[in-house]
Amino acid sequence: MEIIHVSAECYPVAKAGGLGDVVGALPKYQNKLGHIAKVVMPMYRTKFLYENSFDVVHKGAFGLAHYWFDYTIIKERTNKLGFDLYLVDIYGILDRERIYGYDDDSLRFTAFQIAVVDWMSQWNHHPDIVHVHDHQAALIPFMMQYCYAYQNLSYIKTILTIHNAEYQGWMGWEKANYIPHWDPWKSGMLEWDNDINPLASGIKCAAKVSTVSPGYLQELMHNANGLEMLFEYERGKCFGILNGIDTDVWNPADDFFIQEDYNTENFKQKKQINKKVLCDQFNLDETKPLIIFIGRLVGEKAADLLPYVISDSIYHMEGKMNFLILGSGEWWIEDQLQHLRSHFTGYYHSQIQYNEKLSHQMYAGADFLLMPSRVEPCGLNQMYAMRYGTIPIVRRTGGLNDTVKDFGDEGGYGICFNDATVGDITHSIYRAMQLYEQRERTHEIRKQIMQIDNSWERSAKIYINLYNS
Ligand code: GLC
Repeated sequence: MEIIHVSAECYPVAKAGGLGDVVGALPKYQNKLGHIAKVVMPMYRTKFLYENSFDVVHKGAFGLAHYWFDYTIIKERTNKLGFDLYLVDIYGILDRERIYGYDDDSLRFTAFQIAVVDWMSQWNHHPDIVHVHDHQAALIPFMMQYCYAYQNLSYIKTILTIHNAEYQGWMGWEKANYIPHWDPWKSGMLEWDNDINPLASGIKCAAKVSTVSPGYLQELMHNANGLEMLFEYERGKCFGILNGIDTDVWNPADDFFIQEDYNTENFKQKKQINKKVLCDQFNLDETKPLIIFIGRLVGEKAADLLPYVISDSIYHMEGKMNFLILGSGEWWIEDQLQHLRSHFTGYYHSQIQYNEKLSHQMYAGADFLLMPSRVEPCGLNQMYAMRYGTIPIVRRTGGLNDTVKDFGDEGGYGICFNDATVGDITHSIYRAMQLYEQRERTHEIRKQIMQIDNSWERSAKIYINLYNS
C-alpha cells in the first residue's frame, strides 16, 4: 500500500511538539511493515535543511486570492529518515525559521496544501491513501474532492489524524478566495459555526478520522472546543489509535545523548550516575528524589500551576525533593518559573527553552515525570519517561489515562490523579515521596515500566487496518 503523509511538522526536520515525533516515526514503521509511506511538509529554514542534500523534483505555480505563487518540491537524497521526505518551498511565505506563530499562518498553510494537491494531481501514479495531520493539512480532503482543478484526485481515500482539536485553523469567510474554485454547493463542507474551519472540514470530508488515543476520542464528544456535535455526528468514522514511540530514538540502552546507557539489569546504578551528572549541572541534590516537567508552558499542559505546586511542595514537605523544568511557552509562565529560581536555589531549576538533548538526559536522570495536563490527546512524554524507568505522575485524562495505571491498583505502576488543581497535584507528589522511600518497590516499578511495549510496531499495523477498511 502506498501512503502520503502531509503534515506541518516532522522530526528531525522541524518539530514543535508531539505531532513532529509521530510524523517522524509512523511512516518509518509503515515502511518496515512492507508498505511505501512518504512524508510531505513545508520547507522551513531549519538546521536540517542546511545540513542535508536534496534534489529538486518538481516546480509549479498556482493562484491564491490576488497572488500568484511559484512553488518547488525538493526530496531528501539519502532516505536517511527511513522514508522519502519531500519539502515544499514557497518563496516569501514558507521560507522562515519558525513553524507557526506568524500573522499570515492561514495563508501560509493554505498555500502549502494547494501546492501539495497541485503537485499530486500531476502524478501519473497516485497513492492509495493521503493521510493528513491536524488542521494545517485538513483542507486537503476537501480540495481533493470538491476543487475543480483537482478532480482527478477525488477517488483517492483520505484520512485525517487529529493530534489536538484545540487548534482548528479558523478563517473568516473573507478568506474564502484562498481556496481554489470549488463546487459552491459544497460550501457547507468547509464551514463550522459561520467560519471556514479547516479541522471541521477535514472531519467532514475525510473517509476516516483518527484521534491519537481512544480516551481522547471519547472526551471529544463532550469537550472539543466547539466541535462536540460534529464528533457526535461523525462518530461512525472516527477511531482512537494510541500513538507509539520511536524506540530507535528513545532507547536508554543506546542513547547518544546520555552519560551512561542502561537496561533493566543495571539501571539501579546507571540511572543514579545519569542523575548525578544532571543534578551537578543544575545545582540540585542527587540524594533527593528528582521530579521533572518537560513540555510547552501553556494552560493546556497546566503549566500555569507549576509555580504554586513547586512552592507548596517544597514548603510543606520541607524541601525533601528537587524539581527541574524544561520548556517554553506563555511569557508569564516562563517569567514565574524563572523567578522561582532565586527562591529555591538548590531545590529547583528551570531551563526555558526547547532542548532535545537535555530532555533525553532528564528522562534518564529523573525519578518522576509530572504531567498535570488539562488536555492531553495522547502524550508521548509519559511513554518516553517509562522507557527510561522514570515514574509518571499524570492527570487522568485522554491518552495519559490510557497509558498509565496507578500503583495503588492491581498491576499498576504510575501515580494518577483526577483534577488539574494545586491540591491534587501536590498530594500526588506526596504519594511519590512515600513511594520513593520504599526503595525495593520503586525499583520493581522502574523495571516494570521499562519493559512496557509502547513501540510503533503495534499502532502502525492498526493504521494499516484502518486504511484497508
Ligand atoms: C499533540 C498532543 C499530544 C500528542 C501529540 C502527538 O502534541 O497535544 O498529546 O501526544 O500531539 O499525537
